[in-house]
Amino acid sequence: MVFSRSARFDELIEDYAGAATQLVVLGAGLDTRAYGPLANSDMTFFEIDRVDVQRAKRKAVSRAGLAANHVHYIEADLGEADWVLGLVSSTYDPTKITIFLWEGVTLYLTEAAVRTTLASLRAHAAPGSVVVLDLYAQGFLKTIGRGAAAAALKATNESLDFGLDFSTDPHRVLSDFATSANVQLVAAHFIGSANRSGPYMTVAAFRL
Ligand SMILES: C[S@@+](CC[C@H](N)C(=O)[O-])C[C@H]1O[C@@H](n2cnc3c(N)ncnc32)[C@H](O)[C@@H]1O
Repeated sequence: MVFSRSARFDELIEDYAGAATQLVVLGAGLDTRAYGPLANSDMTFFEIDRVDVQRAKRKAVSRAGLAANHVHYIEADLGEADWVLGLVSSTYDPTKITIFLWEGVTLYLTEAAVRTTLASLRAHAAPGSVVVLDLYAQGFLKTIGRGAAAAALKATNESLDFGLDFSTDPHRVLSDFATSANVQLVAAHFIGSANRSGPYMTVAAFRL
């Protein structure tokens, strides 16, 4: 699933990259998009994650011998209501069209943190900016919270939280969520649609 999700993210980034001049990666972890072909674009890159993860990322990037002068690392906890201050006090320019990439992160946050983050992005993004994100089915989160993945989550001190009920009419559920967050749903691809209890997740784009 992670491989197909990343391919969908790549497609959406490609769709919006022509208009954007900034890419902000929320919960960047070891995401390497800023160090691949996109590094040759005109975009400026910002990576946001928790302080310990950012330290480990910088070390990993340096060990790998990757050029990183074009990447701005911001230490922030997306669970804190004012995390966006770290971004707006950097060289991030709110007047430039931006792609916010939010891959594999919302499931670890509370619904309040996801909604606050969307509101913060809307408040500090130029018209035409998009957030490309994945959102998970509540049923899927329950399943992986009990299985072998539960041990991995325990080992990494992570827990699963926000999900949507995709068991019936997932497109409407997603669209209602977007409307309630004051963003416009502009693309959605559901993964696991053949599953009888509904898709596992969606990779979507919201215009801010
Ligand atoms: C599964 S990883 C995904 C990393 C990367 N986006 C990718 O797709 O390869 C989840 C990332 O979210 C980050 N994360 C989770 N909760 C966070 C929070 N409250 N604030 C900032 N980052 C967070 C983790 O540190 C981790 O890097």
